[in-house]
Amino acid sequence: MSKPEITEAMIFECFAAAQQKENGAQTAASFVDVEEYENQIMYPEFARWAEKAGQPELASLFRKVAGEEKLHAVWLRELYQDLGQPERGEDTQRAIDALTTIRANCDALIAQNPEGVVEKALAVAISVEEREYRDIYPHFRDQAIAENNPRAAEVYQRVVDSERQHADWFRAALDQFRAGMAVPAMA
Ligand SMILES: [Fe+2]
Ligand SMILES: [Fe+2]
Repeated sequence: MSKPEITEAMIFECFAAAQQKENGAQTAASFVDVEEYENQIMYPEFARWAEKAGQPELASLFRKVAGEEKLHAVWLRELYQDLGQPERGEDTQRAIDALTTIRANCDALIAQNPEGVVEKALAVAISVEEREYRDIYPHFRDQAIAENNPRAAEVYQRVVDSERQHADWFRAALDQFRAGMAVPAMA
C-alpha cells in the first residue's frame, strides 16, 4: 500500500479565487463567497491540522485569520445589503472538493509527518494571501473606482491592507516554524 502523500500543490488546490465580474455587485458576491469559504472551511481546516500536529499557537493564528476573513465579508455585505447567500462559485466548489479529498488522507499523513503538513499549509496560506493582496483585490478596488463607488473602493483597499498583514503573519510564523522555535502567541 502506498503512503498517503500531500504536496504543497495539492493543498494550494484549496485556494478559491474570487472572480471579477461584469459589475461591482456581482464581483462583491464572488468576494463574499470566497471570504466566507476561507472563514468557515479553509482556515478552520488548517487550524485543525495544526492542532493535530501539536501546534496550538499556529492553530490560533489560523483561527484568528479565519475570523478576519469573516470581517472582510461583513464589510462588503454592509455595502451590498441585498446580497443574501451568494451562489456557490465554481472555483469555490472546486476548492471544497479538493479539501475534502485531502481531508481523507490528511489525518494519516499528520500522524506520519506532522511538521510537513503544517509547513505546507503555512506556505500555501502565504501564497493565498499574496495572490489576494497583490493581484485580485486591487482589481476589485479599481473596478469600484471606475464605477464611481468610493465606499466600496475604500473597503477593498482596507481588505488589501488586511490580506497583506495576514501574509506577513504567516511569513513570520513559517520562519519561526522552520527555525524550530515555538510560535509566540499573537497579541
Ligand atoms: Fe480576506
Ligand atoms: Fe486573508
